[in-house]
Amino acid sequence: MKPITVKNLKKFSVAFCAFGILAGALVLPLQAEAAGTKAPDTITLPAPDTKDGLTVLEALDRRKSTRSFSGAALSDRQLSAVLWAANGINRTDSGKRVNPTTKGVYNIDVYAVMADGIYKYSPEAHNLTLVAAEDFRPQINAKQTFVHTAPLTLFFVSNPVPPKDPSHPVNPERQHANNCLVAGTMLQSVALAAVSEGLGTCVRGSIDREAFSKAVGLAPEQRVLISETIGVPEG
Ligand SMILES: Cc1cc2nc3c(=O)[nH]c(=O)nc-3n(C[C@H](O)[C@H](O)[C@H](O)COP(=O)(O)O)c2cc1C
Repeated sequence: MKPITVKNLKKFSVAFCAFGILAGALVLPLQAEAAGTKAPDTITLPAPDTKDGLTVLEALDRRKSTRSFSGAALSDRQLSAVLWAANGINRTDSGKRVNPTTKGVYNIDVYAVMADGIYKYSPEAHNLTLVAAEDFRPQINAKQTFVHTAPLTLFFVSNPVPPKDPSHPVNPERQHANNCLVAGTMLQSVALAAVSEGLGTCVRGSIDREAFSKAVGLAPEQRVLISETIGVPEG
């Protein structure tokens, strides 16, 4: 064995440091991903399983507001079911959706607030795209703390609809009322799909609309209508 000299001790320290830096560069991102700190840019969802689950009447019979969740994450299947129910396409030939809408114009976007960040749902791609990589859940509602840890809260945001005939502008109050009615059908579809998937829901109007608008960069004419918190019921 070679004797330890100052020269080869230096060489050894340089090699050791280089190894440490390399290992850190390789291991740290993996650790970050494992710890859930790196939000994926896109979440691909499986097709909804429309052949399995409760009957509509069974789901109606079990629907109720749930305000206590186990903290368990949703499976891809569950995430797919509730997002498809919220704003998915059920007739691929025409692009028409699960829920009805005013004059056939789909002007409500659905955002998914999760631990990793805020995502926007694409009905066409049936996937989620990252909009803001922050855990926004604590900001949703200071008083209703169950939403701070619930795995999913959907936000329903309306976009203005330009009039077909500019000489007949849309009455903004009527338009807003229609948007709220459409959002109501979306909320109930989510509630029924969720209960069929063993999940609980709570419609929540008590949300910090301004903070959400800022977090996802909404334009002033876009309106946050309502939210719905979803998770595995506790107990
Ligand atoms: C438009 C709307 C807004 C609501 N907002 C809230 C809310 O901010 N927080 C909450 O805990 N529940 C909220 N709820 C749920 C109601 O409190 C709940 O539906 C009602 O008490 C009846 O109970 P059930 O859903 O179990 O039948 C809301 C419901 C609707 C329809």
